[in-house]
Amino acid sequence: MKKKIRIGVIGFGRMGRGFVSVMQMDDRYEIVWICDAHRETRELASKTVPTARITGDADQVLNDPSLDAVGLFTLADARPAQIQQALGKGLHILAEKPIAADTETEWELVRAIEKSGLIVGVNLFNRNAWYHKEMQAFIAEGEIGELAIIRVCHMTPGHMPTEGHAPEGPPFHDCGMHYVDVARWYAKSEYKTWHAQGIRMWNYSEPWWVQCHGTFENGVIFDITQGFVYGHLAKEKTHNCYVDVIGTKGIVRMRHDFKDATIEMHGVNTTTRKTALFNDKKLDVMCDIFARSVLSGKNLGLPTARDSAIASEVSWAMLRDAMANNPPSIGTQREMQQILAHRRTLRSGFGLPVRPTDAPRQPSPVGQPEIACGEDLCGLCERLQAEKKQRSQQSLNVQDRLVEHPDGPTGL
Ligand SMILES: NC(=O)c1ccc[n+]([C@@H]2O[C@H](COP(=O)([O-])OP(=O)(O)OC[C@H]3O[C@@H](n4cnc5c(N)ncnc54)[C@H](O)[C@@H]3O)[C@@H](O)[C@H]2O)c1
Repeated sequence: MKKKIRIGVIGFGRMGRGFVSVMQMDDRYEIVWICDAHRETRELASKTVPTARITGDADQVLNDPSLDAVGLFTLADARPAQIQQALGKGLHILAEKPIAADTETEWELVRAIEKSGLIVGVNLFNRNAWYHKEMQAFIAEGEIGELAIIRVCHMTPGHMPTEGHAPEGPPFHDCGMHYVDVARWYAKSEYKTWHAQGIRMWNYSEPWWVQCHGTFENGVIFDITQGFVYGHLAKEKTHNCYVDVIGTKGIVRMRHDFKDATIEMHGVNTTTRKTALFNDKKLDVMCDIFARSVLSGKNLGLPTARDSAIASEVSWAMLRDAMANNPPSIGTQREMQQILAHRRTLRSGFGLPVRPTDAPRQPSPVGQPEIACGEDLCGLCERLQAEKKQRSQQSLNVQDRLVEHPDGPTGL
């Protein structure tokens, strides 16, 4: 029989549930433990994986000598001690980003991880995206000439101040570190200079929208825009998310609507347009690479702790620059309270907070976590909704035909 990866999961919130759901579909994994600090979440865990041992004490998981790996999906404040403990026990690690809540601890962890020789992957989900891989392959073929300008934008009516994730900072760090990582990954160079401007929307103390531009050491220039201030009270919510890469001869770009991603590549020899599932956090890809890496004993393409630490450190520094550049205050606290109250009434939306005590009573179907990520419109969830819509459309079509032909559909 093939060896299974015996894994203990710590943190059964949105991301933890998403990872567990994917691992349940993958017979290379055996989920041995699920640990969460909250009772309601543990109850959900025991219904989700009845064969797993459930605990509120992470030490029990980390001290189980039968484990091969752990999944660390709590918030950043709890992760450093868990990573150190797991490394000490020789466990491979699948971790959420950021690996710690401050830069110094992140670098201590990177050093310990790199010394350990263990497989450690950090969920920088963009690095697992089909669209970025295809765009980068096109650039590598020389189709756009010499790469010169990288433009990244991620604006949604997402996570609001006071809604959680506090140890991970305002959006430009919590979410923006992903886009700082994307620009660096395309540039294949380190950040050299930058200037950041933010705005303190609703008179909140921290900038909830930041734009930063600057240069890489190899001369490539970038601009990154990240903000969760994109029409929270609009009747119909929308978002604006894209990557635009400009070379000396051609361009590649992508945009997505959280359901599908579209890439457009205008090269010197080829013009390509392709739309396929966005597959939001690509947890299936991450779990697949992690399983193959653990089973073969070498990292087969997992995003690394070093990449995560660099993205985290640079996004904190850019955020500090935005603060130093006197972000103006626009709007009122009253508007912010209005938005927070409005979001409490929403059933589906961008980055809605889910308190552990509000964990669903019943598990979602395997492979279809209701909320797998910060953005509610995640790929897995969307696929389920699309299937449901298709089924109900089919039954409507049948009903229509039955009405047209009261004796039953003809020709069947
Ligand atoms: N890679 C991505 O795209 C992405 C997207 C969203 C969130 N995240 C990251 O994933 C992590 C989790 O985010 P989330 O949205 O799932 O948060 P969440 O609050 O939904 O889940 C965290 C869970 O961890 C549990 N927990 C906290 N401390 C614990 C401890 N010491 N021991 C055991 N359980 C503990 C909480 O009870 C909660 O159920 C965060 O670090 C966040 O930044 C990453």
